[in-house]
Amino acid sequence: MYLHEDWRVLTVGDGDLSFSWSIFKDLAIKNVTASVLDDRQRLISKYHKNEIANLSARGVKIVYNLDIGDISSFPASLSKVFDVVIFQFPLIPAFSNKAEFESKGQLHKNTLNRLLILHFLKHSFDYFLDPNGKQLAYVTSKDVKPYSHWNIENLNPQPQKIEFQGWVTFKQSGFPSYQLRNVDRDKILKSTESKTYVWGDHKSDYSELNLRPSSKHQPNHCNLCGKGPFYSAQDWQRHNQSSFHLRLEGYEKLWQSFLNQG
Ligand SMILES: C[S@@+](CC[C@H](N)C(=O)[O-])C[C@H]1O[C@@H](n2cnc3c(N)ncnc32)[C@H](O)[C@@H]1O
Repeated sequence: MYLHEDWRVLTVGDGDLSFSWSIFKDLAIKNVTASVLDDRQRLISKYHKNEIANLSARGVKIVYNLDIGDISSFPASLSKVFDVVIFQFPLIPAFSNKAEFESKGQLHKNTLNRLLILHFLKHSFDYFLDPNGKQLAYVTSKDVKPYSHWNIENLNPQPQKIEFQGWVTFKQSGFPSYQLRNVDRDKILKSTESKTYVWGDHKSDYSELNLRPSSKHQPNHCNLCGKGPFYSAQDWQRHNQSSFHLRLEGYEKLWQSFLNQG
């Protein structure tokens, strides 16, 4: 993950704050603002080991209760002042009961997780990123199911304004002070192969980021699963009937029908 030490960085949904602490301490990023969905008390009770004290002692601002889907939770001081906004391992919190599930419109978890990332992208570019800055949004996610079923590379709330730039392998070893935490519990997760997906604008030069293109956007590859290349109608037909493709197509239909409902 490329981060220039002079960039102004906002982290979103940073569970125990160890990612924010790691980029400040291990990568020497000077201008970090950390944000979490929880309030301070809930964060402390959920993650006994957290980085509130370390960040606060160095004057790093921590914003609590920042729900990336809810503009009313965004402080005015964070408007249009960042070069990059980062969400490590986005995941909706588990439903604690049936009423909560119903309050979310009974949507499939796949759809709700895509919506979380879509909100992150929309609000990063509309609210948090400086129009004269680097204009970057990073999402790191595991490259295994169910995460790989979210079709992350094709999520884009505003294609006229935002462009998927590519991805890099996320190497946890580059962030010694960072521990990936479970969304709801005080548990450290195993590190699995993960990718950082990068979006930018249409005009900036992002060559320093050394990004790789998605196979989903390569000629003769499936735009949904990235499999290929397929050159004959027969190969395409066989792929389109595979259980892997059909499963992703099912999730895609749910997503498109949700989007069409406005
Ligand atoms: C799997 S945890 C990852 C935590 C942390 N980013 C890390 O890398 O260890 C998913 C995180 O997403 C956050 N999250 C879920 N929905 C969110 C929302 N609407 N706004 C902000 N954060 C959210 C949760 O609070 C949780 O911290």
